[in-house]
Amino acid sequence: MKSMHHQNYPLDNRNSFALAATAKDIYLLNSLQQLQQLATSLPEHFYILGGGSNTLFIEDYQGTVICPEFKGIAVTETDADYKLHVASGENWHQLVQHCLANNMPGLENLALIPGNCGAAPIQNIGAYGVEFADICDYVDWFEFSSHKVRRLSKAECLFAYRDSIFKNSLKNKGVICAVGISLKKQWLPVLKYQGLNTLGEKPTPKQVFDKVIAIRQSKLPDPDILPNAGSFFKNPIVDKASYQALVKQYPMMPAYPQVNGKMKLAAGWLIDQCQLKGASVGGAAVHKLQALVLINENNASGQDIIALARLVKQTVKNKFQVNIEPEVRFITHCGEQQIEDIG
Ligand code: EPU
Repeated sequence: MKSMHHQNYPLDNRNSFALAATAKDIYLLNSLQQLQQLATSLPEHFYILGGGSNTLFIEDYQGTVICPEFKGIAVTETDADYKLHVASGENWHQLVQHCLANNMPGLENLALIPGNCGAAPIQNIGAYGVEFADICDYVDWFEFSSHKVRRLSKAECLFAYRDSIFKNSLKNKGVICAVGISLKKQWLPVLKYQGLNTLGEKPTPKQVFDKVIAIRQSKLPDPDILPNAGSFFKNPIVDKASYQALVKQYPMMPAYPQVNGKMKLAAGWLIDQCQLKGASVGGAAVHKLQALVLINENNASGQDIIALARLVKQTVKNKFQVNIEPEVRFITHCGEQQIEDIG
């Protein structure tokens, strides 16, 4: 256990914003045994970190970071499906590549999403017409209180847009160890996202994969070159009345109907309409090609990014009376905080 525990540990390489923060304590876990051992004396303040592509360390964190680094991909098959059991520390994009290389398509719309497989169910990652919930079979989750791994079915995960049970009632109560994925052998391309409809009716999985990568690279900055956390804000969901009032004023406003009669708006469009592309505070800036992405352009501090995020949020609120909420999670010295509460 000792070798898995480090102190004053640099997190620069463990957050895609490349912020120079440290963790007072960190546990890098490779086995269930180590996790069980940690659970016997669980620190009071901890944060569970996956690939760090959705976490903003504003300053040095005085608590304990827990990193599940479990590895392994196991494949079985039924007549209709490939069934994958993927350990949570596997890299998501490498899994997508692995599936494609082994003739198990179905994940190509989710190519190039940064982060680990264990984080995929937490915020129900989604892009280009597919979300994790669509291919999820189950999630194996280690519960701190019972020291046991529970298998949650897809229904039990309560997936919604960028949301799941792991962000709500199970938050900080355990660690995701593995995900179960089901891929149909009868592959059908998902081409409903506008940019994919140029592929014709019968593209190959590789063509879809390549196109998704081309679209992402054309508007989303590469975190290795311009540190960022993908979409900084979630797309806001508004009720019908608010939508109707807005669309009257802005007939070109993109919006997507939801199952409950509500409408999802495009936060990127709202921010763009506020002329905020390229806006900056200190070393932090709004990306010039995708207004939903904030970037660490020039040695930004955590405070620079917070100040910029607040400016964006407030400007959108003033112009559209719509609240946009961060998708990114903020960690201060004392732990996770909401943007409104950070001093
Ligand atoms: N738009 C603008 N200006 C901008 C950005 C967007 O006008 O600067 C408009 C676009 O023209 C389009 C609409 O807003 O009409 C939506 O834009 P886009 O299709 O690029 O997608 P998004 O809503 O900005 C979401 C996800 C992305 C995902 C894409 C594609 C969220 C928070 N973001 O972005 O996910 O890749 O759809 O499916 O839901 C992520 O979560 O990190 C992420 C990158």
